[in-house]
Amino acid sequence: MTDVAARATAGFRSAYGQQPAGRWAAPGRANLIGEHTDYNDGFVLPFALSLRTVVAASGQPGERWTVWSETTDQPVEFGAAEADEPGRVTGWGGYVAGVVWALREAGYAVPGARLAIASDVPLGSGLSSSAALEAAVLAALVDLGGLDLPAERRPRLAQRAENSYVGAPTGIMDQSAVIRCREGHALFLDCRTEAVEHIPFDLDAAGLAVLVVDSRAPHRHADGEYASRRRSCEAAASALGVPALRDVAVADLDTALGRLSDDETRRRVRHVVTEDQRVLDTVELLRAGRVREIGPLLTASHASMRDDFEITVPEIDTAVEAALAAGALGARMTGGGFGGCVLALVEAASAGAVADAVTHAYAERGFAAPHHVTVLPAPGATRLP
Ligand code: GLA
Repeated sequence: MTDVAARATAGFRSAYGQQPAGRWAAPGRANLIGEHTDYNDGFVLPFALSLRTVVAASGQPGERWTVWSETTDQPVEFGAAEADEPGRVTGWGGYVAGVVWALREAGYAVPGARLAIASDVPLGSGLSSSAALEAAVLAALVDLGGLDLPAERRPRLAQRAENSYVGAPTGIMDQSAVIRCREGHALFLDCRTEAVEHIPFDLDAAGLAVLVVDSRAPHRHADGEYASRRRSCEAAASALGVPALRDVAVADLDTALGRLSDDETRRRVRHVVTEDQRVLDTVELLRAGRVREIGPLLTASHASMRDDFEITVPEIDTAVEAALAAGALGARMTGGGFGGCVLALVEAASAGAVADAVTHAYAERGFAAPHHVTVLPAPGATRLP
């Protein structure tokens, strides 16, 4: 397939019969560690992928937005009335309308625009295709309108599009990752303060690779399960009398668990509190250049998601087990759960063998063949030359 930026440009030309004024790209992301901690005001450590969504765009008069996408080839068009009513534009167009809504809500004069979208980020695989779309559209509208919106304020706005217009109660991680990540680094984000630190994550220098396996497991009830995990965490925080589970220190975990009567809630809390600590421990190791040693933390994170937070599925657990058995230094599901992708930290030379082992384990279990790709930390959203 041709390059994603070339496809967005070609799509723009055929949909609108002219050249776009510019092109803006935003990547998908993988989360190295820190799952379901973002909406608990905790810590996450994602990095951007070189798989990207590109939006080719030009201004158009009036408050009208026309959006073509290569995945449907069916333009979606909406005006201010539809943009101002959350939920009115549905499907993938809702993410675009949501960004227009969030900007208008924040008082920006959003320029009318024609947009054409192409993407290499697989949809529904837990690699944040929606955040990539939001971030690329946001960058395009900000530049086309000459709006004053610095990069550090963009994640919240894109998140509002997703939470309030589309109606998905997600945290701040994905939008922060796709907007703020840097090449060669993972993004250590404090989700309460939005303070970031770019942590060197130089896989090549360490002779390592990250293998991402798309489990291809159908997302089973992912939206409802995500919302219910979030509700349990919030209820637990309020039962414990803290603003968020981030405020339970790992040293106080046993005391906190002793104050909760319900076993399921206790396990949810234990996942979040220990996961925050695993993020901090991973950051310490990476700061010290001890990349290889983060493997056990990744694997412990997986066990916690599987046993305590209960968000994995058989395909995902199979991929993790097969990768570890084939010599991966660590492996875990990445993203919201109930399907999606696994990432495995492997010796660069053994990436192929680990991938083959996963494929073999899938065949034995009768699962649809997984897809895999090795990835390196890539830059966040940007305007293309
Ligand atoms: C999804 C959400 C994020 C985060 C992760 C789980 O990707 O969009 O906000 O909660 O799940 O870590």
